[in-house]
Amino acid sequence: MAVSVDLLSNPIFVLGSFLVLFIFHNYIHKEPQHGKKYHPTATTLLQPLINYKKLHDYMTSLAIRYKTYRVLSPFHGMIYTTDPVNVEYMLKTNFNNYGKGYYLPSVTSDLLGEGIFTVDGDKWREQRKVASQEFSTKILRDYSSVTFRNNTIKLGEILSQAADSNQIIDINDLFMKLTMDSIFKVGFGIDLDNLGGNEEGVRFSLAFDDANNLIYKRFYDPSWRIKKFFNIGMEAELKTNLKIVDDFVYKLIQTKIEQMQMSKDESLFKKDDILSRFVEVHHNNPKYLRDIILNFVLAGKDPIAISMSWLIYELCKHPEIQEKVAKEILEALNMKNEEITDVADFMARVSDSALEKMPYLHAALSESIRLYPALPMDPKVSFTDDVLPDGCNVNKGDVVTYMPYAMGRMKYIWGDDALEFKPERWLDQDGCYRPESPFKFTAFQAGPRTCLGRDFAYRHLKIIASVVLGCFAFKLRNEKEVMSYRLSINVHVEAPLQVYVSRRSVFQNP
Ligand code: HEM
Repeated sequence: MAVSVDLLSNPIFVLGSFLVLFIFHNYIHKEPQHGKKYHPTATTLLQPLINYKKLHDYMTSLAIRYKTYRVLSPFHGMIYTTDPVNVEYMLKTNFNNYGKGYYLPSVTSDLLGEGIFTVDGDKWREQRKVASQEFSTKILRDYSSVTFRNNTIKLGEILSQAADSNQIIDINDLFMKLTMDSIFKVGFGIDLDNLGGNEEGVRFSLAFDDANNLIYKRFYDPSWRIKKFFNIGMEAELKTNLKIVDDFVYKLIQTKIEQMQMSKDESLFKKDDILSRFVEVHHNNPKYLRDIILNFVLAGKDPIAISMSWLIYELCKHPEIQEKVAKEILEALNMKNEEITDVADFMARVSDSALEKMPYLHAALSESIRLYPALPMDPKVSFTDDVLPDGCNVNKGDVVTYMPYAMGRMKYIWGDDALEFKPERWLDQDGCYRPESPFKFTAFQAGPRTCLGRDFAYRHLKIIASVVLGCFAFKLRNEKEVMSYRLSINVHVEAPLQVYVSRRSVFQNP
C-alpha cells in the first residue's frame, strides 16, 4: 500500500534521525587518523537535514568560514569544497582518483541506469566518445537550431497573446515545456508538444520531473532503502513515476526500432535525431537505449530552462540591465527603427553572425549561471587515500563535493561584489566577453568530464533570449518577491515565476 509521507516535515523522522545520528556520531564514526591533517569539521549531517529547504545557502554560509570542510556523518567521510585549487586537483590533475564510484549510481540508478552521468572507467569513456562525436556534427548543430527556433517561435506566440490580454504567466513553466519539447525532438525525433498541451507529453514530463525530485531526496534520507523495500512514502511515489517514464520511453524505442527495420530505403528514413543513430548500433539493447535517452533528457532539458528562468528573474530585479540586453539584441539584428508583427519574421533575423554580436547577453547569461548553476553540488568518491593541494587528507571512500552554487558566492573568488548580478564582470574594457577559469566558474564542471553541451547550451540560450528579450519586456508580478530555489538535482526556481509581459515597440500587434 502506498502511503505518502513528506520526509522532512515529519517530526518523527527528524527526531529519529537526530537520535540515530547522535549515537553514531559519538560512538561509531571513524575518527580521522592521528597525526594527519584533516579539514575542519563544520557540522554534522543533522544540520543540513534541518536546513534542507535552504540547503545550498546553509552550505554556503559554512564555506564563508572554511573554504573546505567536513560534515560528520556515520556513513562515510563527507568533504565539501569551494577552493578552486582543490577543484582543479579533483577534476583534472588527479582525475582518475575521483569518480561516481558506488555512491551516486546506487542512489540514482533507478532513474538514470548506466547512462553517462552515473558511470566511470570504460563505460564512461565509450559513451563520452560517442556523445562527443555527436556534438561535433554539423547535422546535430543544424537540426537542433531549427528545433529550438521553431519552439521559440511557438513560445513567442504564447507570450504575444499574454501581452495582448494583459495576462500573468508562469514563465518558468513555459521554459520547462520549451526545453522538454526541444530536447525530445533533437534527441528522439518526436514532437512531444508540451507547449501545445499534448496530454501524453505533459504526463511524461510531470512524471520525469517528479522522479528527479524524489531521487534527490534519497541523498538526505538514510531510510530510503527501507521505504523502497516496503514500497511506502516517497519511494512508492517514485515507483509510480518511474513506471510512467519507463512505459513511455520503451514504447518510443520500440517504435523507433520498428520504423527503422521497416524502412526499406535507408535514405527515406531520416536519422537526424540522436536516438536513431544509437538504435543503428544498439537495437538489441533497449535498456541501454533507455538509459541514454533519460540521461540526455536530464542533461539538456533542465539546465537550459533553469538558466533562462533565473536570467528573467534577475533582469526583472535589474530593469536597467534588461534594457541594456534588449538594446544590444535589437542593434545586433539591425532593428533600431523597424517594426515587426510576426515572431517568425523576428526569428528569421537571428542569424549566427547576429548571435556573435551579443557579448552583453552572453555575459548576462554567464552571470545568471554563476549565481544559479544548474548543478549546485557535484559529489565525487575518492578511490584511494589522498592528499589535496591544501595539505589535508582524504580517506579512501570519502565523498568530496565541490559546490558551484557556493563558489559563485565566495568573495575570495569573485571579489566583494560576489553576490551582485553584474554582467560587466565578464567583459573586458573593449566590451568583449572574457571567459573565466573553469575551476573558478565550475557550473559546467571542468577537466576530462567537462559538460559536453556547453556550447550547445549557450547557442540555444542566446536564440531563446534574443526573441524573448528582443520582442518583450518583463516585470515580476510581485516586484518585492525574493525568489528562492526548489531542491532537486538541479537548482530550479521555486515555481511559479509569475511575470507580466509587454510588447516592445519594435514588435507590434498586427
Ligand atoms: C546551462 C546549461 C548547462 C549546464 C550548467 C551544464 C552543466 C553540466 C555539469 C555540471 C556536468 C557534469 C555533471 C557530472 O558531474 O556528471 C555536465 C555534464 C554533461 N552535460 Fe551539461 N550542462 C548544461 C547543458 C547541457 C546540454 C544542453 C547538454 C546536451 C544537450 C549537456 C550535456 C552534458 C553531458 C552529455 C554531460 C556528461 C559529460 C560526462 O560525464 O562526460 N549539458 N553538464
